[in-house]
Amino acid sequence: MDRQEALALLGRHVRSDSLRMHCIATAAVLRGLADAFGEDADLWEVTGILHDIDYEAVGGDMSRHGVEGATLLREEGLPEEVCLAVERHNHTLYGPYTEKIDIALQSADSISGFLIACARVKGGAITGVTPKTVKKKLKEKTFAAGCARERIAAVNGLIDPEEFYRIAIASLVARKDELDLR
Ligand SMILES: [Fe+2]
Repeated sequence: MDRQEALALLGRHVRSDSLRMHCIATAAVLRGLADAFGEDADLWEVTGILHDIDYEAVGGDMSRHGVEGATLLREEGLPEEVCLAVERHNHTLYGPYTEKIDIALQSADSISGFLIACARVKGGAITGVTPKTVKKKLKEKTFAAGCARERIAAVNGLIDPEEFYRIAIASLVARKDELDLR
């Protein structure tokens, strides 16, 4: 399944624009990390796009989140690596994580919204966000308080945090038009 097919599948299961944006942003960061780790960037991006595909269907029941998504994706014929990553990304059910894709998804899932919040402060300009901005804003506990700092830091054992922020920002810049950022 390519990126466009994944977006179309997501669109059939998720109505919320903001949730679709979250998936596109998370996927962009995951792609950036795959490139940095020498992993399959297309596969990781598809995983990111689809990771919350069951979010509306489970209606806040976190004991079903990810599990139902994985079932749906298996029925759609997605590779098992994608299905497993989607299932396991629900950190209220799984973890601690050992697979690179699982660790990367934890951080990508959390930093995507954080970076969008940083851009909003700058009038939607993701191009104005720097690793320095991120470090400063991470210390402000009330800023984007819903973005769990410990999940953003999950990837720290695999990559220098500042390099991660640089990659994550560049990944969102690459998709800025789709994310309604500038
Ligand atoms: Fe997510």
